[in-house]
Amino acid sequence: MVILVHGGAGRVPKAHESEVLAGVAAARDRGWEVLSDGGSALDAVVAAVVFLEDHPRFNAGTGSALNRQGFVEADAAVMDGATLGFGAVAAVRDVKNPVLLAREVMASEHILLAGEGASLFARERGIPAVDPAGLITDEALARWREARRRRVRSSGTVGAVALDRQGRLAAATSTGGIVDKRVGRIGDTPLVGAGTYAEAPLGAASVTGEGEFLARALVAYRAVVALREADPEDAARQALLQARHLGGEGGIILLAGDGRFAAVHTSPQMSHAWRTPEGEGSALA
Ligand code: GLY
Repeated sequence: MVILVHGGAGRVPKAHESEVLAGVAAARDRGWEVLSDGGSALDAVVAAVVFLEDHPRFNAGTGSALNRQGFVEADAAVMDGATLGFGAVAAVRDVKNPVLLAREVMASEHILLAGEGASLFARERGIPAVDPAGLITDEALARWREARRRRVRSSGTVGAVALDRQGRLAAATSTGGIVDKRVGRIGDTPLVGAGTYAEAPLGAASVTGEGEFLARALVAYRAVVALREADPEDAARQALLQARHLGGEGGIILLAGDGRFAAVHTSPQMSHAWRTPEGEGSALA
């Protein structure tokens, strides 16, 4: 069993470092608990991502980056490597845990629902609407004001990959996207093979960073298929270099079907945490 979690690419202010590290470690522990209780890799990655969506310090769910009009439009995806099942939502405005809605989409006849349609589907599946203002944190508002003043583009994302006792692999990713993005902008996270990918027995990947570049490089798929020839570190690096050639920085957590894994980034930092039967750790490098 393996669980590997990330809390997004980008630079974490010094004052927030310990909270971010504790956050990814706690998300990892949620996922590990599921695996230890005999749960599936899919249940484990969803549990880890729900925790990070509810944590106000991360750019997903509550605390998501704000768009140009100052509200949240969230993207999320899940993929089950055993079945190649995939579900995603994009630009959802009134859902507390977009990853849970993505999982419902996976169980439907579709793979991706966006905007109002995603919200309607959420109500059908018993996921209540939340007040969009409740997803906005003071920190996200401050980042948004700063982005508008200095025209900086920062992004962050959360994600998890896991391998369970039965050898099943899964990946999940969730994000508010890029701060001050255009209304309706959708990044790499909910696009299959771009921000999220899992395929047994090869591997599983969750990606973070500048979606416009990561998506065109199909970073998650590229990294997973590179595992045929390369170890996880090299496979992850190759995939991120393709995005860098296009002009974008980011990070990836990549887990091979045999349990080897890597967390690699070209962005200044990426918080992540992992656990295997041999041990656990967390890092913000
Ligand atoms: N990687 C997250 C985004 O660009 O939306």
